Formats: sequence, C-alpha cells, structure tokens
Amino acid sequence: MTDITAAPAVNPPLWLLAELTYRCPLQCPYCSNPLDFAAQEQELTTEQWIDVFRQARAMGSVQLGFSGGEPLVRKDLPELIAAARDLGFYTNLITSGIGLTEKKLQTFADAGLDHIQISFQASDETLNAALAGSAKAFQQKLAMAKAVKALGYPMVLNFVLHRHNIDQIDRIIELAIQLEADDVELATCQFYGWAQLNREGLLPTREQIARAEEVVKRYREKMRDSGNLANLLFVTPDYYEERPKGCMGGWGAIFLSVTPEGMALPCHSARQLPVKFPSVLEHDLQHIWYHSFGFNRYRGYDWMPEPCRSCSEKEKDYGGCRCQAFMLTGDAQNADPVCSKSPHHGTILAAREAANHTQIGIEQLRFRNAANSKLIFKG
Ligand code: FES
Repeated sequence: MTDITAAPAVNPPLWLLAELTYRCPLQCPYCSNPLDFAAQEQELTTEQWIDVFRQARAMGSVQLGFSGGEPLVRKDLPELIAAARDLGFYTNLITSGIGLTEKKLQTFADAGLDHIQISFQASDETLNAALAGSAKAFQQKLAMAKAVKALGYPMVLNFVLHRHNIDQIDRIIELAIQLEADDVELATCQFYGWAQLNREGLLPTREQIARAEEVVKRYREKMRDSGNLANLLFVTPDYYEERPKGCMGGWGAIFLSVTPEGMALPCHSARQLPVKFPSVLEHDLQHIWYHSFGFNRYRGYDWMPEPCRSCSEKEKDYGGCRCQAFMLTGDAQNADPVCSKSPHHGTILAAREAANHTQIGIEQLRFRNAANSKLIFKG
C-alpha cells in the first residue's frame, strides 16, 4: 500500500533568486527585507555570483531573478545578466525603476535580459512619494515603464496594495492600461520584514478587500474582449483566509534564495528563523540544497506537530508558512496561524479586528532605511 504522506522526492531548485544587494534608494515601509539589513554590508563579488549561477544551472535551475534592495545599484548588473543568459537561465529583473535609464535598458537588452518588473507605490505622484520616501520616484517610474515598453519587453507592473492605496485600485488599473502594461500584479502586501513591523498600519479591512475585488472583477469583464491587458492578477492577503498558503511551493522544494553576503535560504524571509543556514562561500549549492540542515529542516511531513500532522490538507499547504508561524507564535514548527485549526488563529482574528479601528497614518509607519534599521537593533 502506498504511504500517501511519504516525503516527496527532493527535486532541483527551479527558481534562483539573487538578492544582489540590500542598498536601495527608496524606503518602502512594506519592504520584505530583514529589519537588520543595515548590519549586512558585505556583498558577493561578480565572480562569486557567477559561480553561484553556474552551480545552480548545473543542478537544473531554469529561472533567475535579480532583486534586492535595488539591483540596479550593482554596477556589474549587465555582466551578471550576460553570464546568467549564457548559462541558459530565463532572467528576470525586479526593480523599482529608480536609477534606470534608457541606455541601461539597452545594455540589459544587449546582455540578453528576458523580463523586467517595475514596481509602483500608487497611481499618483503625491501618494507614491509619501510611500516611497522619494519625491521624484513617480515620474521616473512612468518614464522607465514607457522605455521598457518601447524596447519591446513584456511590460509587467507590480503594485503593492495596503490600506493606504487599495481604495485607488481603479486608478491603478487605469494607469496600467494607459502605460500599455501586458501584465499587472496587484499584490496585497504580505507581512514579512518591514511590512510585519508596520502591519497594523498596512493591513486593509475586509471591506476594503471586498471593494477592491469588485473593481478588479469589473475591469476583467470590461477588458475580456478588448485585449489591452494580458493579465490582471490580484493577490489578497492571507490574513483573511481560513487555510494557509502553501508557502514557496513547499520548504526547499523549488525555490532557492541567496542573500547579498551569500547566505542560502529556502525563502526570502528565513534568515530570521533560529536555524543555521549555510553560506555559498563555505559550501557548494549541491550540498546546501540536498544535505544542509537548514534546507532539510521543514521538508516532508515528519517534523509537523498537530494539528498539521493529521490534517488531510497538509500535502497541499505544508502547514502554511514557517516564517509566519515563527513571527506569530514564536515557533516555526507550529501551524501557520492563518489556519482556523491553529490554536493561535486568534492572533489573525485580532489583527483583522485591529484593522477596523487603527488610526495609523502613512507618516507614522516605520520606513525601511538604515537609520531605522540601526535604531531597531540598538534597542
Ligand atoms: Fe519563509 Fe513562508 S516566507 S516559509
């Protein structure tokens, strides 16, 4: 008889995320970077990154994302793109667009970059400036979105939604149409890093989400035949779900992230966990992925306590997100409190309730910058 809860075979990491740097000209209060990013000043060299790409590709990785921080601050970005492309990766640049120029875009195109995603904070200059902590950011993003389109890239715009901008979702979609975006990601903020620190001031109410869903539905119907947006993706926050997300498609299943200084992680948030993760400077990726303690820690089902252990949905959601379980319960082994079967689900209910009453304005959010990072870690 087949054991339906046998641990799945470990396949190669299909997705490699290269977090090239924590440096960033913006200060978004919903950034998922770690709170102590300012203490991490080391960055892998060009050669070290290319060696990571080579090892990942040899293991079977196919997609490589360049992110950060702001990856554009790395002067060697064209070289890294070219190396990744030569190795046969599908390459994706995840950027705020700040620091981008038409010349750089052309250089990236020459290097073989496949895909660019530009993130916006809002649909208008004032709110965008308040959220990004930069007055010039909006016009620069508009100009670069047009330049990306002019170069023939698939135009992907990403808007992180929260309680301060979700009510302008119709104007956000209009902006995306006006910029002739092919794909639009309307992603309600997920609560990691700085977003978790600012959660009370960012989580939308259930009513705000319901209204936004209505607007998205209307636009989808309107655009179904017009073909002026290829894809309108709306991601709602898991805080209003009763079952958790199958985070990262499973721990150490498809995703491998490398931090600026070379720590290898099974997700972008795992460095906060009380688990020792290996460095690409000390071990090869093959060892890291298949044999390191950190990558094996939550693979399969044997580590699960109840209620996940006997849950019929564990093969679908893997007990949810380890990082969220750690942040909300203090123990990463626990069921993700988003799950209504979790004994800690009350923390989610309390957050939903708080969203109905909070008075926290944008100016009271803690912005992601080096000064705040150092302040938090002093105290
Ligand atoms: Fe780390 Fe979900 S973000 S497991």
